[in-house]
Amino acid sequence: MIEVRDLKVRYGARVVADVPELDVGEGECVAIVGESGSGKSTTLLSLLGLTQDAEISGHVRVCGVDVLTASPRRLREIRGARAALVMQSPQAALSPATRLGVLMRRALKLHGVGTAPSAGGTPDEIMDRAVEAVMLDREILRRYPHEISGGQAQRFAIALAIALGAEVILADEPTSALDVTVQAEVVAVLRGLREERGLALLLVSHDLALVSTIADRVLVMKDGAVVESGPAARVLAEPSHPYTRELLEALP
Ligand SMILES: Nc1ncnc2c1ncn2[C@@H]1O[C@H](COP(=O)(O)OP(=O)(O)OP(=O)(O)O)[C@@H](O)[C@H]1O
Ligand SMILES: [Mg+2]
Repeated sequence: MIEVRDLKVRYGARVVADVPELDVGEGECVAIVGESGSGKSTTLLSLLGLTQDAEISGHVRVCGVDVLTASPRRLREIRGARAALVMQSPQAALSPATRLGVLMRRALKLHGVGTAPSAGGTPDEIMDRAVEAVMLDREILRRYPHEISGGQAQRFAIALAIALGAEVILADEPTSALDVTVQAEVVAVLRGLREERGLALLLVSHDLALVSTIADRVLVMKDGAVVESGPAARVLAEPSHPYTRELLEALP
């Protein structure tokens, strides 16, 4: 689903993300952890060709598309529908004057979901099921983006991905220490989807403990570099890099 080799993302002369290898297969979950500014979001955005003003080199394949050489049109086909991004603050990306239900209906129409009679139901049925899958009340579809919390906005973004039939979700977790319960909620939703639908997940978090409850493999980033990677259980039990040990010791 995701295949990365020798990825380097530069802003000007500065390399802000250097990822030699990152693979996420069907039904797998890989997590990227690291302190603020370590290059986690930059890595995630570059996988969908969403970085601005960055120079990117290496090989990136997402859902069979070579992201760094694909045409904008080909990228738009996978973005959103097949590979969905759940952003750190999704509310900012939602059009403020549009109700969430209207927004979701438009997205379904744009990607031709729910138009064929056999396509898993009417748009309304697909929307209801998707909202239910992320444990939101259907009433949320009548609200405007500013009327929901950050955690609800993230779950709405996941619902949108489900409605569109995404195969891969790339999720950038809220980094505020105050948001620990919200983060746990979002992770619980993702874990369920992965088990039920075989979704591939690439999750970004600063919280190693939380990540250990869902990830198969972990990449630890510091100052743009991957300092350690491997099976989540191993990295947590026997961290080989001092920085990973530091992250573990910082846990409550
Ligand atoms: N558009 C940009 N132009 C220049 N530098 C950028 C840009 N976006 C990010 N950076 C820099 O790249 C580095 C990595 O940023 P990134 O957002 O990937 O960190 P992060 O690990 O996601 O941090 P956080 O946990 O705070 O979200 C930072 O030093 C940041 O200042
Ligand atoms: Mg970030």
